[in-house]
Amino acid sequence: MALVNPMGFIEKARENGVAISSFNIHNLETVQAVAEGAAEENCPVIIQTTPGTLKHAGIEYIAAMVKTASEMYSVPMALHLDHCTSFDTIVKCIRNGYTSVMIDTAHLPYDENVAMVRKVAEIAHAAGVAVEGELGRIGGVEDELSVDDRTASFTVPSEAVDFVKKTGIDMLAIAIGTAHGEYKGTPDLDMERLSEIRNVIDIPLILHGASGVPDDQIRESIKRGIAKINIATELKIPMAQAIKDCFAASPKENDPRKYMGSAKNAVKEVVRQKIRLCGGTNLASKL
Ligand code: 13P
Ligand code: ZN
Repeated sequence: MALVNPMGFIEKARENGVAISSFNIHNLETVQAVAEGAAEENCPVIIQTTPGTLKHAGIEYIAAMVKTASEMYSVPMALHLDHCTSFDTIVKCIRNGYTSVMIDTAHLPYDENVAMVRKVAEIAHAAGVAVEGELGRIGGVEDELSVDDRTASFTVPSEAVDFVKKTGIDMLAIAIGTAHGEYKGTPDLDMERLSEIRNVIDIPLILHGASGVPDDQIRESIKRGIAKINIATELKIPMAQAIKDCFAASPKENDPRKYMGSAKNAVKEVVRQKIRLCGGTNLASKL
C-alpha cells in the first residue's frame, strides 16, 4: 500500500498496549530488511532517515526506494525524517513524499524552539504529515548531531505540557536516560519520570536511543506509555559484523550481492526481534 501518516497505526498500538518500532535505514538493503521484516511480522513500521543519510543517498533515491517497498506489502509503512534541524530540509522531504517529520531544535532557547516547532507543525499538518518534537536533550551521537553528557538533560513534565500545547505536535520525544549510539554501561531509565510525563501528556511518547536498552526496560517503558521506539545502532552493528564475517571467510569476495545479502539478512533478523519485543506482531490485523 501507499506510504501513510503513522499516527493512525501509532494510536492502534497504544490501544493495544504495544509500540511501533522505527528503524533508521541507509541504503537499499536496509530498506528491504525493514520492509520484509515488518511484513513477515505483520506489523506496521516506520522507516526513518537522518539528514546525514539524505546527504549520503539523496532524498529522491530514499523516497523512491521506500515508496516502492511500501507498495510491495499490505502492512502500513510510514517514511519519517529523524532529527532534522533545518526547516528547508523538512519542506523538501514533505515535497518528496515523507509522511512524518521530526523537528529537533531542542538546542535553541525555549521560546525559539517553540516558535520553530510550531511553524513546522503548521506546514506539515497542512500537507497531512505527522510531526515529532523533542523536549529535554538526548545524549550521545546520532550522525551529525552530538550531545555530550553535560548538555544532555531530562524532560521536565510541566515544561512538556506547555511545549505540546504551544507547538501542536503529534508526538513527543522525551529524555529519560537513553542516549544515541553504544552505551558504556547499562542504561537505567527514569521510569518514574516517564509515568509523570504520561500522566500529564496525552500524545504518543517516543523513546530515542533504544539500541542497547535491556529488553525488560523496553517492555516497562511501553507499559508506562512509550508508543514509538527508535532503533539505529542495533541495526548497524550486525550489518557491519555480517560484512566483516563475509570477508573473513572469503577474503577475495568481491560480489556485493554476497556481502550485502548477508548484511541484509542480519538486519532483518534484528528488525523482527525488535518488532516482537515491542509487541507488534500481527498488529496489522487489528487495524
Ligand atoms: P540508537 O542509535 O541508539 O538506536 O538511537 C536511534 C535513534 O534514536 C534514532 O533517532
Ligand atoms: Zn534519536
